[in-house]
Amino acid sequence: MSSKILLCKTDAVSDGAPLNVNVEGFPSLAVYELDGDYFATDNLCTHGNAMLTDGYQEGEEIECPFHGGAFNIKTGEPTAFPCQVAIKSYPVTVENNEIYLVSA
Ligand code: FES
Repeated sequence: MSSKILLCKTDAVSDGAPLNVNVEGFPSLAVYELDGDYFATDNLCTHGNAMLTDGYQEGEEIECPFHGGAFNIKTGEPTAFPCQVAIKSYPVTVENNEIYLVSA
């Protein structure tokens, strides 16, 4: 059975300004907005000790604040070297202007 975990209000995150969210039982998460849709991934870069929410969102891409690596915010797949290992992405749902992580 799946459950929903509240991440944040929709107005707390906007395109180009992802939000770091900490919820019990998960690593730090990054929540993104793009064209009215919301996405969530792990926040820690797989290349080093950097939080992606300190980086730069450009459309579907989040660029790490460290070595110029990047990931797709929808899939978590690496899109720019030196990042080669995907970050985990999470399904989310929006209800009443609140963003929830859908956990299996
Ligand atoms: S720590 Fe993110 S690209 Fe190196």
